[in-house]
Amino acid sequence: MIPSITPALLHTWLFDGQEIALFDLREHGQYGEAHLFYAVNLPYSRLEIEAPRLAPNRAVRVVVYDQAGGELAQRGALRLQALGYDAVHWLEGGSLGWRSAGFELFAGVHLPSKAFGELVEHACHTPRISALELAQWQRQGKPMVLLDGRPLEEFAKMNIPGATCCPNGELSYRLEDLVSDPQTPVLINCAGRTRSIIGAQTLINLGIDNPVYALENGTQGWYLVDLPLEHGGKLAYPPHSGKALAQQRERAATLASKAAVQWVQAEQVIEWQRDARRTLFLCDVRSPEEFAVGSLPGAEHCPGGQLIQSTDLYLGVRKARVVLFDDDGVRAPVVASWLRQMGHEAYVLKGGLDSGLALPVRPAWTLSLAEASASELDGALLMDLRSSSAFRKCHLRGAQWAIRPHLAEQVGDERRRLVLIADDPRVAELAVSELPEAQRMAARLFPQGLEGEWPQVTDDLSLPDAACIDFLFFVHDRHAGNKEAARRYLAWETGLIAQMNEAEIASFAPLVQTDPVATRLVHAGRGQPGQGAHAVNPPVSRLSTVLFDSVAELRAARGRRDQERVLSYGARGNPTAFALEDLVSELEGGYRTKLFATGLQAITQTFLAYLRPGDHLLISDGVYGPVRRLARELLLPFGVQVAYFAADGQGLEAAMRPNTRMVYSESPSSLLYELNDLPAMAALCKPRGILLAVDNTWGSGYLHQPLALGADVSVMALTKYLGGHSDVMMGSVCTTREAFAALSRSSDTCGCTVSPDDAWLVLRGARSLASRMAVHERQCLEIASWLQGHEAVARVYHPALPEHPGHALWRRDFKGSNGLLSFELADTTLAKAEAVVDGLRLFGIGASWGGFESLVMLAELGERQFATSAREAVLRLHIGLEDVGSLRRDLDQALRS
Ligand SMILES: Cc1ncc(COP(=O)(O)O)c(C=O)c1O
Repeated sequence: MIPSITPALLHTWLFDGQEIALFDLREHGQYGEAHLFYAVNLPYSRLEIEAPRLAPNRAVRVVVYDQAGGELAQRGALRLQALGYDAVHWLEGGSLGWRSAGFELFAGVHLPSKAFGELVEHACHTPRISALELAQWQRQGKPMVLLDGRPLEEFAKMNIPGATCCPNGELSYRLEDLVSDPQTPVLINCAGRTRSIIGAQTLINLGIDNPVYALENGTQGWYLVDLPLEHGGKLAYPPHSGKALAQQRERAATLASKAAVQWVQAEQVIEWQRDARRTLFLCDVRSPEEFAVGSLPGAEHCPGGQLIQSTDLYLGVRKARVVLFDDDGVRAPVVASWLRQMGHEAYVLKGGLDSGLALPVRPAWTLSLAEASASELDGALLMDLRSSSAFRKCHLRGAQWAIRPHLAEQVGDERRRLVLIADDPRVAELAVSELPEAQRMAARLFPQGLEGEWPQVTDDLSLPDAACIDFLFFVHDRHAGNKEAARRYLAWETGLIAQMNEAEIASFAPLVQTDPVATRLVHAGRGQPGQGAHAVNPPVSRLSTVLFDSVAELRAARGRRDQERVLSYGARGNPTAFALEDLVSELEGGYRTKLFATGLQAITQTFLAYLRPGDHLLISDGVYGPVRRLARELLLPFGVQVAYFAADGQGLEAAMRPNTRMVYSESPSSLLYELNDLPAMAALCKPRGILLAVDNTWGSGYLHQPLALGADVSVMALTKYLGGHSDVMMGSVCTTREAFAALSRSSDTCGCTVSPDDAWLVLRGARSLASRMAVHERQCLEIASWLQGHEAVARVYHPALPEHPGHALWRRDFKGSNGLLSFELADTTLAKAEAVVDGLRLFGIGASWGGFESLVMLAELGERQFATSAREAVLRLHIGLEDVGSLRRDLDQALRS
């Protein structure tokens, strides 16, 4: 009797820190349609072949499942027990039961690795460039090194012209043989997203000096904008020259220790091997060619880049001990640094290939299935156990496609002798083990090399798709010319974070550099080194007219100014404003920025740039109040249709129409701080061609980066935290590369610019943003929790409070919080609220925020569409830089009066 477990218990087990092997026993195609996030595919057709490799310690806790908690899971569990696994359980209700219990199922493969890649980009803001930008660099002959992070077989299928194959696991060890100076930009690409991101971030984590970029969406992104790919490419990294090895080792060791990787001696690994309670994987991370020459006894070949990219193919047990080695002291520590970030207990073997470590080797498979003699083939029943796609391409005449889970049913009580065709004789042996004794004993293997002597059928499509349970149809043709499939694949990948639950997200810990934003805030927008002695701050360059040396120079500037940032006339910007634009672009992680006289004008220009009569605009109900008037008095008369969606984003999809052109959100909203799940919203918007624009004033770029979460446009009122001193008005709009041209054109058409004096003031304010924000955050949180315990207060609104409805999203997407909080009084009358406001002495009564001073105001929620009207008297505070004790005492006296 095999014990079962419930979905809820499995969820607990998956995150209790103990070892667990979760196996999906369905065939690959069924698995890839919808499976559990941490499930490893162990198809029943290969169960005994793969299980000992994926779960080498047979005492490990195992959970198996199938589609609906039926017969396959129990059949597989018995097979595992027969192999010696003595803690096997099956999941009640299978994958469908998991979903009914309220948990998520995921399409695709290698989910943990791919989702991790998305999280890395999100957490580390990995710089990226688009296919169009790369193509432009190539046209301009800009020096660069383009490296493809995939293995050579994948590279040979298709590659971007100019790329060299250097699998991600090799980067740390091969870089100096591929890149000759520390200035040339290095670009990493793959076929999609993950390996571009991980490859680029590997180099960044190693601290190399070159600018590094991930190519957005890889070869698919390239092909989607109709750029040609090459096929059959063979250009790979050269042999290691020995150059820079000491430096490479040092860099790798520094990175590994940042990720808490430890080095272990061979003796320790032997002891671990004997530990019956724990699983041990010994992984040789070098290239296939090196492994083929020889490795340590008992090691598996896990090429480093692929071990990160498709971890589930190599490690079938979560929380196991994983010991990596190489022969250079570079590759294994770097790969281990990634595995640690992915939640694995990864170590590096001291001495690597020369350590002398020898672990027991798994016994070879002894084949008992005999081959048929030529005379036995006549009149035999031919069952083809190769993949269904190989069968469709070409098979022996008269053969039927078969697979282990269904073989007994397919063969029935057939009397003819059974002859099996297989690429791997072990698969045939496992399949016949399903049959009754008499059939099993008579079964034979089709002899190797005889295929040519048998008539063959090619391109046979009589096998229906539904029967091909081993083949994953989900966007399978994305690299074969199907653009829609490529788009769907990329949307699936970028939508993964939104599908994951909190525990799944928390199981990863990408290494984030220690506050690089704080450093960039001090250094950004100060011009490039090499300009000679100069002031720390960019000068205030007041200008209207710009003078040129010749008509040709003037013409050239005018010819380029719609595409590039060219100083040509004061209405199109000035050098001080350009410096601030650069700082905002860095802060937002965007392509480029335009500045406007106020935050509201930035919002106005966002609408004017992208909306046309007949377009439909969806605005968050929690939006900054004056946007409603803008919509009513400007957009509606110009023929733009406007509707509002709930401030927490609920019901957004239902509100979308065929003519919806933009979703405009504010996250968190200004007064009650409802959060929006931006990756989920982007996943709705992208396939429909809808622009996602976000007011990021609350996060001010420092706490939050909407563009990294899938938004196309991020708007900020710089009047608030960037200015920071309540003495300047300004707004900014930062966009992705694709969205920038429309914004820039419309802004220039309307003559929008900002004064250099104002730009200078904002730049000056921005330099201290990080330090101010830390104080606003700390003091505001202190006041928020103090107010929660105050008898005069009924409810406090602040996204960092665990009971806030958007708290989980805030934790996921924000680096911290600011000085804003709102609260309701126990006495809900307006008179009481006004008395509290009037009674405060240290808080100014004022509507704006983000300056150094504390403020209070009565929130105006009149136009919001709440189900109840209970929120009439909400007070909003901005907690400034004054002494927090004084602020608390002031609040206390006002609340008690
Ligand atoms: C969230 C938000 N966005 C935009 C604005 C508009 O900025 P400005 O006052 O610079 O026009 C404000 C101003 O209060 C705001 O709170």
